[in-house]
Amino acid sequence: MNTIATTIADAARQLTEQAMGDTPKLDAELLLAEVLHCSRTHLFTWPDQSLSAEQSAQFAQLLNQRLEGQPIAYILGQREFWGLSLNVNASTLIPRPDTEILVEAALEKLRENSSQKTQQAGLTQNNPACRVLDLGTGTGAIALALKSERPDCEITGVDFSLEAVQLAQRNADTLMLTVSFLQSDWFNALQGAAPFALIVSNPPYIEENDPHLSQGDVRFEPLSALTSGEDGLDDIRMITAQAGAFLQPGGWLIVEHGYNQAAAVQQLFKERGYVQIATRHDYGGNPRITLGQKTAQNGNEHDY
Ligand SMILES: C[S@@+](CC[C@H](N)C(=O)[O-])C[C@H]1O[C@@H](n2cnc3c(N)ncnc32)[C@H](O)[C@@H]1O
Repeated sequence: MNTIATTIADAARQLTEQAMGDTPKLDAELLLAEVLHCSRTHLFTWPDQSLSAEQSAQFAQLLNQRLEGQPIAYILGQREFWGLSLNVNASTLIPRPDTEILVEAALEKLRENSSQKTQQAGLTQNNPACRVLDLGTGTGAIALALKSERPDCEITGVDFSLEAVQLAQRNADTLMLTVSFLQSDWFNALQGAAPFALIVSNPPYIEENDPHLSQGDVRFEPLSALTSGEDGLDDIRMITAQAGAFLQPGGWLIVEHGYNQAAAVQQLFKERGYVQIATRHDYGGNPRITLGQKTAQNGNEHDY
């Protein structure tokens, strides 16, 4: 008879033998918690609990998917981001913890913006013109994280994948957060929209011939969420070129990029007239997000 402890130990051994991911024991625990509809704490508290034949068979099925390389998040259909439990599926990227750095930078700029506007207008209420756009929203991770912190802001998320837009909307409904999600090829569906105080994006930025694309979880994620031309910068080039026309004067553009792209992305921001350009590091110490401010004179309204 399999117990919780023997099931986890055996699965972790198989995952280790096949070099499947960096966290074999954790993966085994998450899969078993899913089958038993319990928390991981329950697994630690009741290691001698027996599994029924049906539970063992269900677990074996999930473990096989993991042994074939399927990301844990796709098997479970869920991933946590910014403390929010998000549904995920193969239509888009699984949100990564490093993207929380972008959320932190965005919240900082929104705070600065609100306090400046409040001082200028002598207001005591939150700034009603707190409009934010999340380009390539995927699961809605960034947009929903921002809305959870700043319910006063009006947040729009766009993605060109209809399936991703539907997924983001489902996540918003589950979390009871009001964000407008729409299908758009970058800014195309936003012509005529009122300008935004902040535009954020975690766009595709991997070089199309990057050998990492054939390793680990990314093998199962759609290339349309990952790659962006030969140097990985086609989408960031497009976004930096077009964003100025959709930003308020003094508004900020913040983009995530690869660890080796900071200099090139800063150059793109400079060419488009942004000021106060800066790059921030992720939890691993790599330069991963670049931000810049639109000036009142910024000429990039006419650049696309
Ligand atoms: C790297 S994923 C980021 C997803 C999500 N924002 C996150 O951080 O987890 C990039 C997203 O951009 C979307 N995308 C790619 N090309 C696009 C385009 N031309 N217009 C709008 N979205 C696009 C993809 O469908 C994908 O959901």
